[in-house]
Amino acid sequence: MTRDPSDQRRAGEVAIALPEAPDAGLYFIGRIRTPWATRDDCPKNARGSDALCTIELDPRYERGLADLATCSHVIVLYWMDEAPRDLVVQAPRHGTPRGVFALRSPARPNPIALSVAALVGIEGTRIAVRGLDCKDGTPLLDVKPYFASVDSVPDARVGWSEGEGRRAPEGGSAP
Ligand SMILES: C[S@@+](CC[C@H](N)C(=O)[O-])C[C@H]1O[C@@H](n2cnc3c(N)ncnc32)[C@H](O)[C@@H]1O
Repeated sequence: MTRDPSDQRRAGEVAIALPEAPDAGLYFIGRIRTPWATRDDCPKNARGSDALCTIELDPRYERGLADLATCSHVIVLYWMDEAPRDLVVQAPRHGTPRGVFALRSPARPNPIALSVAALVGIEGTRIAVRGLDCKDGTPLLDVKPYFASVDSVPDARVGWSEGEGRRAPEGGSAP
């Protein structure tokens, strides 16, 4: 989805022309069921709620779930299907415009979101998790084990957010 009219753009935001055609195709491997019907209902980030969510995997991938139940946490990758893709500089409602690659905004050239979620249980092709922030029905791209030994960087910094007294990811504008 491309947000076109400049009347929807906030001060300081920059949109670009996207390439004519994508370079690769993706398979949506399932859908994510959450309590949130709209984007506005969603928590701002994955730590904003511990609501139970269900990943509904397409049954064709069921054998890929082998051994996943041994994991306490998973990385969930999903496709923010309602996000514009052309905004390279984005502005929160009240704040400084920032480059898309310094933001966790869903609006990006490839609107791929990620969250680290706690794995609650697996029944058939339904994976119950806590720690997601997408609207109900959001397409699923992938599920991977979270390895604290390699994925955790406890002293990582996001310099621009430090003055704002924030540790959790900033979404930027989430139009
Ligand atoms: C800031 S993003 C963070 C996503 C992910 N945790 C990440 O860091 O990549 C979360 C926001 O995306 C928006 N959102 C949720 N589901 C969406 C969807 N299907 N399409 C577009 N935007 C969505 C909501 O406004 C939600 O608060």
